[in-house]
Amino acid sequence: MVFVSKIYLPDKEKYKSYIDKIYESGWVTNNGPLVQELEKRLEEHLGVKNLLCVANGTIALQIAYMLLELEGEVITTPFTFVSTTGSIAAEKLTPVFSDIDAKSYNLDPAKIESAVTGKTSAIVPCHVFGNACEIDEIDEIARKHNLKVIYDASHAFGVTYKGKSILSYGDVSAISFHGTKFFHTVEGAALVIKDDALYEKAKVIRNYGSDAPDSVSMVGINGKMNELEAAMGLCVLDEVDTILAQRRKSHEYYAEQLKDYIQMQSFNKDASQSYSYFSIVLRSEEEMAAVRAALIAQDISPRQYFKPSLDTVPYVEERQVMEVARDIASRILVIPIHSDVEPTVAKIVIETLQKMRG
Ligand SMILES: Cc1ncc(COP(=O)(O)O)c(C=O)c1O
Repeated sequence: MVFVSKIYLPDKEKYKSYIDKIYESGWVTNNGPLVQELEKRLEEHLGVKNLLCVANGTIALQIAYMLLELEGEVITTPFTFVSTTGSIAAEKLTPVFSDIDAKSYNLDPAKIESAVTGKTSAIVPCHVFGNACEIDEIDEIARKHNLKVIYDASHAFGVTYKGKSILSYGDVSAISFHGTKFFHTVEGAALVIKDDALYEKAKVIRNYGSDAPDSVSMVGINGKMNELEAAMGLCVLDEVDTILAQRRKSHEYYAEQLKDYIQMQSFNKDASQSYSYFSIVLRSEEEMAAVRAALIAQDISPRQYFKPSLDTVPYVEERQVMEVARDIASRILVIPIHSDVEPTVAKIVIETLQKMRG
């Protein structure tokens, strides 16, 4: 079966050389030298400061909310991975949805303000499939209502917006380095924190709230990345430009082949792309089901990202019906872009749609 994501495993000998270092030092976790090296190299590669590696993308978001001392309601998108909403609920905050734009699949900035109430403390947008949000408009709304902004940038490795790393926007950006992402540390993530004092505070939260041996200064969590994960990240980082170039080629191939048949995501003109995912939106749920079945019959497994629309999950209030997100979620498929399967996938999609449309 060909899956949407294929974990990239770097050269085994190179990884082993890092493992040898870990065996020599005996230092496997607790802010070890490889985690520190990875943080430094990622800051250089991405052109950011105050980057902190953590255990995974879900904990990264939770640490961001703890750090900014959020309370009450948090406005977020219904069209993202469940972790964006789940992390808000897990911190006993109330996720309040605002609908997405039907073309970018990101939060529609024109709708955000009507979701603001006296209880709102933050906005948590996601750069869906690496597509930069309307950052200037979101920041403007946040400033007007004195709200914090935490971007879920899990799909946006290496993306720049108006010439700067996308991770440098908002009060905090969080990015997952899960094995399914093209830059990964098996499990892992990073936070990029605008304010220097908050960056220092985040280090303490990541370490159980302990600021020194035998001293606890605040509520914290175990958010640490370990040395074996950092070693994987250091190896993958060496290859990241090559991986990105391959993905770009695949993306462009699909765009050219499929443009007359499907709705393609419209990408922010002020930003670069991560080419992390290629999504196709069909005309109807029936078309989506037919294309999905045809691909599966050929051992190709597309994903219905992001289904369910998160306004339908059982732990959120029923008042919120996000029509655009539900509609897109019912017609979207994400197809593999990581190997030489693209011509086969494109052919199956086109033939299925030609048959259906007559
Ligand atoms: C948009 C988004 N947010 C959050 C996460 C959660 O990250 P993790 O799996 O590292 O906890 C993911 C994916 O894994 C994601 O795609």
